[in-house]
Amino acid sequence: MNLIIAENYGEMSQKAAGIIEGMINFNPRTLLGLPTGSTPIGMYDRLIEAYRQGRVSFSEVTTFNLDEYAGIPADHQGSLRTYMENNFFQGVDLLPENRHIPEGDSDDLEEECQRYEDKITRAGGIDLQILGIGANGHIAFNEPGEEFPLKTGVVELSEHTRRVNRSNFFDEEKMPRKAITMGLGTILSAEKILLMANGESKARAVELMLEEKIRTGIPASFLHLHDNVTVILDREAAKNI
Ligand code: GLP
Repeated sequence: MNLIIAENYGEMSQKAAGIIEGMINFNPRTLLGLPTGSTPIGMYDRLIEAYRQGRVSFSEVTTFNLDEYAGIPADHQGSLRTYMENNFFQGVDLLPENRHIPEGDSDDLEEECQRYEDKITRAGGIDLQILGIGANGHIAFNEPGEEFPLKTGVVELSEHTRRVNRSNFFDEEKMPRKAITMGLGTILSAEKILLMANGESKARAVELMLEEKIRTGIPASFLHLHDNVTVILDREAAKNI
């Protein structure tokens, strides 16, 4: 894994945005895999700024989000679709038909997973997959455990993730228990992978991810199976390495 240690959150976000900007300027039809969470917000802000300054255009870019909560409509305040609209989509010229996110309120979730995976394949596969990491080592919604979906699938969220991700948008009992997530195989099929982590709460997960071992308890450690992974950390997330 390629390791970059940034001084702080701002520098981490800038470096990630710079890599994406460079890639789109090289290939305007880039296919991006996108994450949600608090980690990428600074990166999205900088990409919006780059677009406003005319340094990059998303008009030919296609995006596929990593995951979505199951059982809530796309326009729910807490959906990952709403997060994407608010934090990125509304600030750039990415065409609505090129913004893909699993439909968490589909009547047939399994069918929706298959449809989503097929769409990624038909589009030609992801060029750059951007990831965050959970404090428990999860990527997308692939939680620590004995098994993970290979392709896009329906998963149970861990209590840890439900607690950490519970926002003002969900009461305790209404926080979704399931999600649709790209599988580890989907993620590892991307041509390049860029993982960002900031803050002390991620230091242990990052330390275990970087050890040259694959552990089902640390899903992010499966990234060792890929030969083009860049990890950008701030000083706090890098404190154990
Ligand atoms: C969430 C998402 C992940 C994200 C992770 C970390 O559950 N499914 O894609 O990387 O948790 O979130 P945060 O950036 O808020 O720490």
